[in-house]
Amino acid sequence: MKILSIETSCDETAISIVEANGLYPNTIFNILGNFVLSQAELHSQYGGVFPSLAKREHSKNLIPVFKKVLKESNSLMIKDDTEASEMPHETKNELELLFTREAELLEEFLKEIVLIKKPPIDLIAVTAGPGLEPALWVGINFAKALALIWDIPILPVNHMEGHIMSSMVKAGQTDDIQNTRDINFPSIALLISGGHTEIVLMKKLLDYKIIGQTCDDAIGEAFDKVARMLGFPYPGGPHISKLAEKGQVNPEYKLPRPMINSSNYNFSFSGIKTAVLYKLKSIKDISIENKQDLALEFETAVADVLIKKTLDAVDEYNAQTLILGGGVSANNRIRRRFKEEVSKKYANTELIVPDINLSTDNALMIAITAYFHTKNKKGKKNDYTKICADGNMNF
Ligand code: KG4
Ligand code: ZN
Repeated sequence: MKILSIETSCDETAISIVEANGLYPNTIFNILGNFVLSQAELHSQYGGVFPSLAKREHSKNLIPVFKKVLKESNSLMIKDDTEASEMPHETKNELELLFTREAELLEEFLKEIVLIKKPPIDLIAVTAGPGLEPALWVGINFAKALALIWDIPILPVNHMEGHIMSSMVKAGQTDDIQNTRDINFPSIALLISGGHTEIVLMKKLLDYKIIGQTCDDAIGEAFDKVARMLGFPYPGGPHISKLAEKGQVNPEYKLPRPMINSSNYNFSFSGIKTAVLYKLKSIKDISIENKQDLALEFETAVADVLIKKTLDAVDEYNAQTLILGGGVSANNRIRRRFKEEVSKKYANTELIVPDINLSTDNALMIAITAYFHTKNKKGKKNDYTKICADGNMNF
């Protein structure tokens, strides 16, 4: 089965074409085409992602990225003169309705996509939330338009479930051919991204229960805000990480570990962020060394809280697998600390940390999720499907 997946929930325009075959855990994913176009540089001047700018950029980038991925997967075929038929009037009307708020994308669609022969794709998977609404809608409408003109079924996918599913693949025969991991359940997933911080319990495949989440800022947001206070642009996580690698432990910069001993799995990060702000105010003429020490303490504080809460959940539910997902799990210290703690404490719990390019936003995770949903529908009990359905997406 060939899946085209589209992800536009934040500031990455990501598309992939994946051929997937076989039932879990014997599924093989053949990555035929895959590309992520980041808008981060554009948003850096605003200190975060600016939704209307993200929407405009997705509108501009979707068709070029789609054509690039089609080409990479050897599926870009242009109609010859005899095939280039006029689009039926009703289809054109439907497209106009679909792209009411994306006039530029409609124009390009009518100019470019109509020239392309229907590619051999069996399913279109698209991120339907959570994310920035204007950004999500561009991707959804683009997916709907392709589904309409080529008569291909479409499946909405939850972005956070995608971050969990990134951990389902493991290196196969080549970089493009990936095998599936045979995950032992129950599993605990720690999802740490720009918009979310969640601990999710999975008793079996496609069965999710969110058992903890942030009460205020998402962890990635805290990284981005602290980086901004230290004078670094969005996205701040990689800057903090680089600074912290050179930092020294400095007792004067001790930060709080909010909710570390609370009797639930929830988090709070806004207090750490405010504590950094007060520390900065107390330092006159801040040097790069001061910034490095503060970044180290910030990373250590958040890692302490993440580890304590997540491992408490592993203990309570006797988790056989611990999965890290989301952009912040690209952080070296967080990865390292989890590896150390899990290997020290557990003989039978496997820690899965996806490759960095699968930790941050990408379209492969959306294709993988879609495949497991189409193949394992029976007995599905899934918080995330509800979120998609409640997302007012009108599929
Ligand atoms: O999952 P993601 O790519 O997008 C969302 O779904 O939000 O996560 C983006 C977040 C940003 O806040 C970014 O600063 C953070 O991930 N991030 C990192 C690192 N790389 C990206 N945070 C800490 N250390 C990193 N190396
Ligand atoms: Zn994400």
